[in-house]
Amino acid sequence: METPIVKLSDEELKTVYDPSEDSYLLIDALEVDLDMLQATKPGICLEIGSGSGIVITALAMALKKHNSHFIAIDINPDACKITKRTSLDNSVDVDVLQMNLLDCIQIKCTFDVILFNPPYVVTEYDEVLDDRLVFKTWAGGKNGREIMEQVFNIIPEILSESGLFYLVVIKENDPKYILSTFQKLNMSGKIVYERKIRGEHLYILRFRKIKKVKD
Ligand SMILES: C[S@@+](CC[C@H](N)C(=O)[O-])C[C@H]1O[C@@H](n2cnc3c(N)ncnc32)[C@H](O)[C@@H]1O
Repeated sequence: METPIVKLSDEELKTVYDPSEDSYLLIDALEVDLDMLQATKPGICLEIGSGSGIVITALAMALKKHNSHFIAIDINPDACKITKRTSLDNSVDVDVLQMNLLDCIQIKCTFDVILFNPPYVVTEYDEVLDDRLVFKTWAGGKNGREIMEQVFNIIPEILSESGLFYLVVIKENDPKYILSTFQKLNMSGKIVYERKIRGEHLYILRFRKIKKVKD
């Protein structure tokens, strides 16, 4: 998978997440799954919290010939602007919505791929509530799960029957707990990639719906 060109000025870096090891690990995991992703011919792919847009742009570039549609959400208006620019700079198009998580997404079983590299750092709850946009890039509150957990119940509703959900987490988020939470939502998940880097143990979890058996 080609790595998109991303240009962020010093001013933009004050609020927008600079692509880091976690962003690249998610792209690596998507690359490993690329044949599978291409085979499913995804119709609509969604990224929650797109930041610079590097991940959704990489996916859009890799799936270019499949006529898929790409949507990115971020709470940060600067990130939204830059996601759009990153996609166009790399000759793909991503529709961008400035929104809190999945607040205005009501369509059921629509997305074939959903990506989320959330703010996962364990912090005080005050930091989750802090209005400064840069806090939104990392502050995850208790267990680092306070933001990501807000979408867990919604994912099975908006994911298509054969869709895939990719989530970036760290050891402190307790990946096993997250896998068991999704199991209760009728979704099977596993660790598809992991890497230890500078004191952080990163994991990529991939989930799919458990197929209902017809009587
Ligand atoms: C760790 S950064 C990941 C950025 C990018 N996806 C990447 O991998 O480089 C988390 C992103 O989630 C966004 N975010 C945080 N809270 C959000 C919320 N409540 N709704 C939408 N986006 C949010 C942040 O603004 C930030 O861009």
